[in-house]
Amino acid sequence: MAKILTLSSGKGPLRHGDENLGRIIFLGVTEQMENFNFYAPTKMLFGRGKVTELPQEMKPFGSRVLLVYGGGSIKKNGIYDTVAGLLRKEGFALFELGGVTPNPRIEAVRCGVSLAWENHVDMVLAVGGGSAVDCAKAIAAGACYEGDPWELVKDAAKIRTALPVFTVLTMSATGSEMNPTAVISNPETKEKQGVHSGFLYPKASVLDPTYLYTLPAGQTAAGVADIMSHIFEGYFKRTEDAYVQDKFAEGILKACIKWGPVALTEPEDYSARANIMWAASMALNGLCGCGKAGKWSCHAMGHQLGAYYDITHGVALAIVTPAWMRYILSEDTVDKFVDYAVNVWGFPRETDRFALANMGIDATEQFFLDCGLPSRLSELGIDDSDFEAMAKAAVPYADLDTQAYVPLHEEDVVNIYRACL
Ligand code: NZQ
Ligand code: ZN
Repeated sequence: MAKILTLSSGKGPLRHGDENLGRIIFLGVTEQMENFNFYAPTKMLFGRGKVTELPQEMKPFGSRVLLVYGGGSIKKNGIYDTVAGLLRKEGFALFELGGVTPNPRIEAVRCGVSLAWENHVDMVLAVGGGSAVDCAKAIAAGACYEGDPWELVKDAAKIRTALPVFTVLTMSATGSEMNPTAVISNPETKEKQGVHSGFLYPKASVLDPTYLYTLPAGQTAAGVADIMSHIFEGYFKRTEDAYVQDKFAEGILKACIKWGPVALTEPEDYSARANIMWAASMALNGLCGCGKAGKWSCHAMGHQLGAYYDITHGVALAIVTPAWMRYILSEDTVDKFVDYAVNVWGFPRETDRFALANMGIDATEQFFLDCGLPSRLSELGIDDSDFEAMAKAAVPYADLDTQAYVPLHEEDVVNIYRACL
């Protein structure tokens, strides 16, 4: 079933009280859940010491492993020694690609593919956060492809198979440990691109909450913002009857709000780390987005900031999200924001709808501030010089003008970026 909403197309979304601005656009708003497949094949090994079960999960796939990790945190905190020691003891041959940067680059993927070929590896093991995991996934696909791996990032249909991928997670944010996505950056073309393929699901992932104890506060906070954004992107959608998904979503948001601040003040609080870790995986394994129509808005805008300025993914989202929420608040969306304010933040329902919606948005912004996250692009030294170019890339990235919860055109995206200055 579909209905017609009134929204503008060139001058920003129709605002409360701006009744003459809009023209009618058929949005194909669905009131009923779309058909979907839910598939989450990754075996999750969750809890203290669960890494000891990793070798037995890997053994059926061979013995030659490409170990992919970041800039050295796993060497400082001992996780490298634990994992490498365990695997060597079980007879695995390890080859290594270290130094993978946040916002992992295609060049690192190319290096990994060469290593995989030279050493005839059977599988790829990421030990790290989303960047190491995404790089490992792209290498796994690239190792089974004759052309340049950037072609796979640009066109997932070219991924016909991939080496098996395993992960040992040290940072909770992206959900990459349980999903079929890799996000890779190409500094030469100023692109940051997500690729989704069923061949990229990790076979098994180790989630030991104690591995998060050394995560710096800034990364912990950015991770929480990323998790919440994954939920927002699915929660604020056109499908109206996905009650089960929305209750999962509200529960995960409440977990972030409850446990994020605890993880920040008590980095070695097991319950806080465990809840955030599980929240991250559940936020982006398909569960909350099942059957909901449309594409994501804030990630499309956030990825351009990553591509142009190489900023931390969760920081970009913490800045963009409240501005986006304020921009799309209108008569058509206000009831969803009221649900959010009441069910997630606990504000009483009887207040004026727009006041209530704004209270929920203000609470979101304040939460990110309280977590120590930047709230303005200017704090990161970013001005408006690239806004037009970024908006030009953001709109087609996720068909924002036709597929977003509230359609956004280039001018709207520029306006949202400006509101972030
Ligand atoms: O590189 P090292 O030295 O390991 O340090 C990392 C890095 O500097 C550090 N870190 C990680 N675990 C640590 C630790 N430091 C101390 N102790 C630990 N236990 O944290 C920093 C950030 O790591 P990174 O892996 O970059 O973070 P995150 O997990 O947030 O991944 C971000 C990347 O994932 C993409 C983002 O765009 C970004 O490129 N995303 C991937 C998605 C997916 N695959 O589904 C979806 C997301 O929306 C996102 O786009
Ligand atoms: Zn994200």
